[in-house]
Amino acid sequence: MHRQRPMAQLPSGAVPGNKPALRACLMFLLGAGMVCATAMGAAAPGAKPAGSQAKEAPASDFVGSETCATCHDEVAKGFASNPHTKISEMHGKSGITCEGCHGAGRAHVEGGGDTTKIFNPAKASAKDVDKTCLGCHAGAHPNFERSPHAKANVGCTGCHSVHASTEKEHLLKASQPKLCYQCHTETKASFDMPFHHKVNEGAVSCSDCHDVHGTFGNNNVKSTADQNAICTKCHSETRGPFVYEHAAVKAEGCVGCHTPHGSQNARLLNMPNINTLCNQCHSQVAASTVHGMNSGSQELAPCTSCHTFIHGSNLNQAFLR
Ligand code: HEC
Ligand code: HEC
Ligand code: HEC
Ligand code: HEC
Ligand code: HEC
Ligand code: HEC
Ligand code: HEC
Ligand code: HEC
Ligand code: HEC
Ligand code: HEC
Repeated sequence: MHRQRPMAQLPSGAVPGNKPALRACLMFLLGAGMVCATAMGAAAPGAKPAGSQAKEAPASDFVGSETCATCHDEVAKGFASNPHTKISEMHGKSGITCEGCHGAGRAHVEGGGDTTKIFNPAKASAKDVDKTCLGCHAGAHPNFERSPHAKANVGCTGCHSVHASTEKEHLLKASQPKLCYQCHTETKASFDMPFHHKVNEGAVSCSDCHDVHGTFGNNNVKSTADQNAICTKCHSETRGPFVYEHAAVKAEGCVGCHTPHGSQNARLLNMPNINTLCNQCHSQVAASTVHGMNSGSQELAPCTSCHTFIHGSNLNQAFLR
């Protein structure tokens, strides 16, 4: 997992200068030109999303965080340890932190705290909040707007709390899997099954397999060159390549035989009976001469008691060893 470093995208020389607004603009444009442009076009009720304000507002409209702190003492104190205090460094220590998200604040201040002159994400639509956040974070989360979460209006602040997070990491509203179960109750049930990935026990987390910020695959499943790599990064013994590949592993993928969350069946198998699972594709086998059987496969021991290396083998074409 990598961390977002928007500044790395700035060409050297673009940062210095003494026009905070210009630098804010550059940052938004270089960080996410497209998003910035869209944000500017969107008409938000009341104050505009910060992303658009940072672009339009002249430098003199920014007052700096020190000024915000004079009235919002509690919020400012709470912000001292927030990872977002780094925004200030991005702005050449000009003191811009609060206004990176809330937009230029002079009118709000001069109005004695006029609430119509400041962008308040708590009152804005998910889309407008997302645009503001993506103004800086689109580099790390380019697929968010086409993700199932964004489409269902679950925006950044559905899972993150900028000011009130009590989690150690990532400003989350709650830790995984609790955060996810608040909405995905049906998924919780599958992790309560007799056989399950130990998500509730803390050994594996939802985000080992999913990127909730959107992917190119279905179900927010992490995109990898080889879809099985989501699983083989932990189950390396199944990865191969093998001299004798089991075509089913490559063609169907791991989920062709396994249920990823939890199952009533041992080894997270899709079916209670291994032979039934195999015979979906190998129905002729049980009666074949090589197995010395002429009736149904029920008479056979589990196929995998002989075909032990079911994911592939370097020694035997029939995966016997
Ligand atoms: C002169 C005092 C003062 C200063 C300076 C000030 N505010 Fe405010 N702010 C207020 C008051 C008063 C309110 C309305 C009462 C409340 O909700 O706390 C308010 C409300 C807000 C709100 C909520 C708006 C809403 O829709 O309810 C936000 C966000 C905000 N301020 C951000 C900022 C930021 C960012 C700065 C610095 C750029 C800042 N304020 C500087 C006095 C101030
Ligand atoms: C990274 C973006 C970001 C930064 C930086 C930021 N805020 Fe906020 N602020 C938010 C969001 C999002 C909300 C809406 C409530 C929430 O989700 O936590 C908010 C809400 C507020 C509110 C209104 C609370 C309410 O419930 O209506 C005030 C006041 C405020 N912020 C002040 C500040 C001050 C002062 C600073 C600088 C010390 C600051 N913010 C920095 C994102 C930010
Ligand atoms: C002006 C640019 C900017 C805006 C706007 C912005 N962020 Fe950030 N964000 C940053 C920077 C800079 C960091 C610190 C990156 C680092 O630690 O390397 C950060 C860090 C984070 C982190 C990571 C915290 C961690 O511990 O890993 C989260 C989560 C986050 N931001 C969420 C949001 C959300 C939600 C919004 C919108 C409400 C938002 N950000 C708006 C610049 C921004
Ligand atoms: C459905 C919940 C959810 C939503 C919606 C969501 N996040 Fe996250 N976010 C997480 C979780 C969980 C993590 C930690 C695990 C991970 O990185 O996937 C995280 C991590 C992060 C991080 C730090 C690590 C990294 O990969 O950069 C940033 C920054 C971040 N989110 C920003 C955002 C922004 C910006 C939005 C909106 C555009 C957003 N998130 C929407 C749940 C969410
Ligand atoms: C071991 C990897 C893995 C873990 C851990 C995991 N998932 Fe999944 N999840 C998947 C895969 C793979 C799919 C796609 C299912 C398929 O293709 O049959 C999926 C599908 C889903 C779906 C779509 C509906 C469904 O059930 O098919 C949701 C919602 C979901 N996961 C939520 C979660 C949540 C919430 C967590 C954590 C509590 C989680 N997942 C943990 C791998 C995982
Ligand atoms: C605020 C509610 C909410 C939270 C919190 C939330 N989700 Fe979702 N999630 C949704 C909604 C709504 C959808 C889209 C509708 C659907 O497919 O269920 C969705 C979709 C998904 C999907 C895609 C399902 C599909 O069928 O394609 C996955 C996977 C997923 N969420 C995982 C997670 C994980 C993992 C977390 C915790 C880090 C999480 N969600 C937190 C509400 C939420
Ligand atoms: C983050 C690491 C991780 C990822 C990713 C992961 N697993 Fe697992 N898996 C585990 C752990 C840990 C166990 C528990 C092993 C144990 O209990 O001895 C496990 C157990 C299993 C088991 C049951 C093993 C047994 O002996 O009963 C199967 C089958 C399995 N995983 C398949 C998958 C599939 C399929 C995927 C991809 C969708 C996947 N795993 C992704 C870590 C992971
Ligand atoms: C053709 C069906 C099939 C496919 C595809 C498949 N598996 Fe399996 N897997 C099985 C069977 C059957 C078992 C149980 C073997 C036993 O009980 O002896 C098993 C067992 C496992 C186990 C338990 C440990 C072990 O080796 O016995 C893990 C972990 C596992 N599979 C992971 C994966 C991963 C990861 C993938 C994708 C790369 C995958 N499987 C693809 C059928 C399959
Ligand atoms: C999704 C379909 C599918 C499933 C399920 C499946 N296989 Fe296969 N298997 C194949 C295909 C395709 C081949 C390669 C083509 C061939 O030679 O028949 C293959 C090859 C084999 C071979 C090697 C055949 C040879 O030529 O020597 C063995 C042994 C085998 N499978 C056993 C199993 C067992 C045991 C199971 C159950 C754990 C299983 N298969 C489940 C599709 C499947
Ligand atoms: C008692 C051990 C044993 C059991 C149980 C067993 N096999 Fe086999 N299987 C073998 C042997 C031995 C071969 C021949 C390997 C060779 O030719 O080198 C074989 C060959 C195969 C082949 C490749 C040749 C062919 O006939 O197509 C497939 C496919 C196969 N078995 C699938 C299965 C399936 C599916 C099951 C469960 C329904 C199963 N086997 C159960 C021992 C077993």
